[in-house]
Amino acid sequence: MKIISSDFIYSPDGFIENQAIAFTETIQAIDTLEALKEIYPDAQIIQTEANSVLYPGFINTHVHLEFSANKTTLKYGSFMPWLDSVIEHREELVGNCDNKVMMAECEAMLRSGITTFGAISSFGNELEVCEVTPQRVVFFNELIGSNAQYADMLYGDFMERVKVSMSCEKKSRITPAVAIHSPYSVHPIILQRAVNVAKEHQLPLSAHFLESQAERQWLEHGEGELKGFFKKFFNTSVPVTNIQEFMYAFDTYPTHFTHCVQANKVELDYLAQRGHSIAHCPRSNRYLGCGRLAIEELSLPYSVATDGLSSNDSLNIFDELRAALMLHHQAPIDKLASRLMQSITSDAADILGLSCGKIEVGKLADFAVVTLPEAPRRKEEIALWTILHTKEVSEVYIEGQKYT
Ligand code: BEZ
Ligand code: FE2
Repeated sequence: MKIISSDFIYSPDGFIENQAIAFTETIQAIDTLEALKEIYPDAQIIQTEANSVLYPGFINTHVHLEFSANKTTLKYGSFMPWLDSVIEHREELVGNCDNKVMMAECEAMLRSGITTFGAISSFGNELEVCEVTPQRVVFFNELIGSNAQYADMLYGDFMERVKVSMSCEKKSRITPAVAIHSPYSVHPIILQRAVNVAKEHQLPLSAHFLESQAERQWLEHGEGELKGFFKKFFNTSVPVTNIQEFMYAFDTYPTHFTHCVQANKVELDYLAQRGHSIAHCPRSNRYLGCGRLAIEELSLPYSVATDGLSSNDSLNIFDELRAALMLHHQAPIDKLASRLMQSITSDAADILGLSCGKIEVGKLADFAVVTLPEAPRRKEEIALWTILHTKEVSEVYIEGQKYT
């Protein structure tokens, strides 16, 4: 048994003082340090530095590790030139991204307090790294392929990867999961088969959806910048699906939709009504010129996530949260900061169906300790000072074990 004591604890009831947590792999009790010492006299006592705030470990629900080698290769600024550059440089980038590069990024995430991440995997290349990294990994095997001719082959490859990730579940912190690349790149037949697999095995399910104006125009009218792309690379001129058909394919199973920047109110309300959620990636959206997701109007749960280094400059979750504060400049800053901390803890855990993300008895003992440069004067600003002053956390625990 261990007991950890901090000046502040981020609990479901807000920031609490004069409390400590007794834990093994899971949280056993929350009480004053004195009371816990009495109940567990042999426990190891951990006193965090002055002005520390103990949070549940942070959760990055959407990242592409296999593009971690990108720094200045891909074209930023606008979605379509970016996608062209991905096609042009994909092999080179994936080839340059070895286990060492990916492990360094897992470590960077860990130093920013990320104890769980959702890894979107197109080839399965990052599985080894995800098996050995200390973090919990929701391993999203991605299905891609709009060409009906190759659909069976691509689906077969996808199912192989799903099975391999399922076999990792017992010997690592991996949760197998399913990702659909996007409406424009996945044929509806294999899409429905993949959704059924997720549903049958109760696996987390995710899909990129309405990221760019180009995607919307292509799905709605078969026009716009994606038209030339499909003509050039696939010799096709009509989209394989439309917005409604794609959304309806997920009707019976809650799905984590990434981006949704170009979704309208009717579509967002529909997603909300079906119990879905959103991964909001502020820097990725900004860097690819996709626009701003109006998070203040959403009626469905959302997480804040980094996306991959294919559309970002770091996987540090605090860099992302600071960007979110800037992107949503109209929002009251302390309320937004609180909401953002919720989006990477309890909301993200609920979205991924994990028993972490909350300081509550019975939850997994995943913690991130943030140390503020001085004592906060007002409790309602702790989330804001956390986001503004933190580059790296001072301690990280996963399942009760200290990693940083
Ligand atoms: C496709 O298979 O249609 C596709 C693959 C990658 C990017 C875009 C489309
Ligand atoms: Fe993504």
